[in-house]
Formats: sequence, C-alpha cells, structure tokens
Amino acid sequence: LLLGLVLFLYARRTRRRNEPPLDKGMIPWLGHALEFGKDAAKFLTRMKQKHGDIFTVRAAGKYITVLLDSNCYDEVLSDVITLDQTGYAQILMKRIFSLNLPNHNPEYEKKRAEKHFQGPALTQLCSSMQNNLHLLMDSSEMDLKKSEWKKDGLFNFCYSLLFKTGYLSVFGVEKNNSATLTEVYEEFRRFDKLLPKLARTTVNKAEKQIANSAREKLWKCLTPQCFDGKPKDQSWLENYVQHLQDEGIDTETQRRAMLLQLWVTQGNAGPAAFWVLGCLLTHPEALRAVREEIQGGKHLRPEERQKNTPVFDSVLRETLRLTAAALITREVVQDKKIHLSNGQEYQLRRGDRLCVFPFISPQMDPQIHQQPEMFQFDRFLNADGTERKDFFKEGVRVKYPSVPWGTKDNLCPGRHFAVSAIKELVFTILARFDLELCNKNATLPLVDPSRYGFGILQPAGDLEIRYRIRS
Ligand code: HEM
Repeated sequence: LLLGLVLFLYARRTRRRNEPPLDKGMIPWLGHALEFGKDAAKFLTRMKQKHGDIFTVRAAGKYITVLLDSNCYDEVLSDVITLDQTGYAQILMKRIFSLNLPNHNPEYEKKRAEKHFQGPALTQLCSSMQNNLHLLMDSSEMDLKKSEWKKDGLFNFCYSLLFKTGYLSVFGVEKNNSATLTEVYEEFRRFDKLLPKLARTTVNKAEKQIANSAREKLWKCLTPQCFDGKPKDQSWLENYVQHLQDEGIDTETQRRAMLLQLWVTQGNAGPAAFWVLGCLLTHPEALRAVREEIQGGKHLRPEERQKNTPVFDSVLRETLRLTAAALITREVVQDKKIHLSNGQEYQLRRGDRLCVFPFISPQMDPQIHQQPEMFQFDRFLNADGTERKDFFKEGVRVKYPSVPWGTKDNLCPGRHFAVSAIKELVFTILARFDLELCNKNATLPLVDPSRYGFGILQPAGDLEIRYRIRS
C-alpha cells in the first residue's frame, strides 16, 4: 500500500512556478533511467536540445535537475549547506566499494589531500613517481631486447604503466616483486571494468562474483598493516589510515577504504595517458609538434624539461576536454533558488538531486568550441605560443572552456601530480621507444558509453601498437 502511495505521489508531480522544465519520461517511476544509464552524454544532449540549460528528469523514482550553464557552476555549487555532497557519495561507496564510512566528509578529505599533494610533498611525490616510472620502463623490466618489436594494446600499455607507477608512489609500496604488482593491476582492472555497473546496481550474477572476488583480493593486498613498521612521515595515505584509526574504524573497513583511495588516485591518469598518446598517434601533425617541442628542451636539466611545454599542454587540455566526463552530483536538502548566468531564476526542490555535467557544456558545447568532437591539438594555443583562454558563447566570455578537474570549490587535489605523471610517461615513451600503430590507418576507438559520469572515459576497444627500444 505504501509503495502504491509513493508511486501515486511521484506520478502526480507537476512543474511548479519557477521550477525548471520537467520531463518525467514515459515509463512510470523508472522514467528516463535506462536511457540515462546507457549513454548519459547522448541522453543529456537530447534533453538540452529539448529544454535548454536546465531541466528536471525523472530516473528510477528520483527527480534530477541537470544544470548545463557552465558560467554559473561555481556560484551554485559553492553552497555546500543546501547542496549536500555526502549523501550520494555514501550511496556510491556502499554500492561500489561495499564501504560504510558514516563520518566521511568530502570537504575535509579534499583539504587533507591538498596539503599532501602540493608544495614540498608534491615535489617529493613527483620525484618518487619519476624514479618508479623509469624503473618500470627499464628494458629488462619490460622484457625488451634490442631492435625487437613488442605488441600491446595502447590502453593496457598506458594504464598498466601509470597504475603501477602511481601505486608504488602514492601507496609507498616498495617495488620488489613485478608479479605481485601485475596481479594488483589485473585485479584492479577487473574491478574497474565493472565499476559503472556496480554504481548503477546492474551487475548480473556472474559479474557480481567477478567484482566480489577482485575486491576481496585487492582488500587483502591493501591491508593497512603493511604500512606499519616503516612509517613514511606524513604521507597522505599514512595520515588517512591514522585518521580512520582515530575515528575508531575497524581494520576490515580500513582495508575497504584503501580500495576507494586506490581508485580515486589511480583510476584516471592511465586512461587519460591513453587518450593523449592515442590522439598523438592518430594525428601526425600533433605528434610532430610535440616531438619538436621535446627536442627543443633537450638541453635543459631533467627537472626543467617539464616546465615550458605549451604545445604539449594544449594537447593535454584538448584531450581532457574530449574525455573528462565526471558527473557532479548533490542532494538538495532545502528548497533553493538559483540564478543562471543570463539572470533567469529557478527553484530547486528539496529531496531532488542536482547534477552538473561539464562534459556537455562547456567541453562539447558547439557554441563554445567549433567542431567540438574533433581533436585539434592547438585549440588551447595562441599564435604566440601562450595558452589560449578566451572562449565565447553568444558573445559572452566563458569562465572555463573545459572543467576536467572539477569546479572551483571541488578541484581535484591530485591534478598537479596527474599532469606530471602523464607528461613524464609520454615524454619518456617518445624519448626511449619507437612507438607506432600496428595498422597505420587505425582511428581512435569509440568511447564505452557506460562510463559517462565516472571520470576519464575509457575506450570500447583498443588501439594495437608495437614498440621497441629506440636505437
Ligand atoms: C577528486 C579528476 C587524477 C586525487 C577529483 C574530482 C575530479 C577529479 C573531477 C572531483 C570529484 C567530485 O568532487 O565529484 C581527476 C582527473 C585525473 C585525476 C581528470 C587524471 C587525469 C588524480 C590523481 C590523484 C587524484 C593522480 C592522486 C594522486 C583525487 C582526490 C580527490 C579527487 C584525493 C578527492 C576525492 C574525494 O572527494 O574524497 N579528481 N583526478 N586525482 N582526486 Fe582526482
């Protein structure tokens, strides 16, 4: 009876004055859930064309207001009281990581991470990252003999290298066993592949088993005790474990929290490096320009080489514009009035959810970026070699032409580290290896549409490459 009443009340919802356009979809209760989950970018683009920069859709009994006016993201999301980010984060933690952290406070977590991923700590972390990456790319470690070609999929190649590098550097693990490292990576990939389905609770029985087994193996590998005895003063992870222990969190939960942190810190840089190299290999003029830039910096000391690279920076910005697709979600805990950048006022309803999806706007907005689906390596480059920051929509300057690291109050604290790791990987590969497509006419694989909403996109297939040590 109660369920019937709830269904009835939901079905009756109508648009009130000043509320965004309401689109409930045809299916009772479920609304647009299937289309939303299948390909969020396609669905939300369709809704944007139908309703404009703000609208409310129904999905699995929830009403979700989607805001796509990028010039007001900062202002709207700065209200952390009315727009709560913990509720939905808790739901996802439970579904994906089987983790309950009732006191988890994303605001506090970000502050803590910022402290550890900036300044002297960042310098130290980057230097450890470079050492680890070079160690992993050693010819004997990669089982490479002179002048012999080796084949791989570019996605696996990039993801495994950056995952292992990041795991060794951020988790402070000592590299003494390649086989264990590969095992952790492979379990992580099994888990990562199923992550969107875990989040949407659409895993079938077999997939559930795979996810459970991968999670359990990873929990075992990530036992916090392994940090005991060899303290790395003030490392971000040690500090995190300490924080959990101070909160009275049991060991089992601590392990599960480690997997959450493993995914947050290692789930995006590898896929991003894949798209960067994939775009370079399929756009020879971009590869030529990057190679020339690297060549020009060869006389610099290694620590200086990463600093002045406007061409590569534009390539990276352009790649992230095309592939960074995090969905920022908040629970509306009190009725709230918001203003779009054109001054229009809308009312958000308590109990609804608010979603901001920068991938659609600004990143793929045809009014901001010409031919937004095309990779143009110099899109973020002025003729004088400086960064291009001026982009306009209907004559008004857009605040940010791309939002890969999140909005102002929610910037990824690991972004400097991520950029440094991607750069180091690409520069080292281009310097040390001959790397080419197995099929010279191959194009970039399509995107796996189920990954919209979960950070950097992943390809539906892969790009076959071959590589050998540069003679
Ligand atoms: C959060 C993007 C790599 C550490 C975030 C957020 C975004 C993001 C958009 C905010 C999510 C939200 O508020 O809803 C990226 C991208 C990366 C990347 C595009 C790579 C290309 C990294 C790396 C690290 C890192 C390498 C650390 C080594 C974090 C942490 C958070 C975060 C600690 C906060 C998570 C929390 O709420 O507890 N990242 N990130 N990220 N990122 Fe990154």
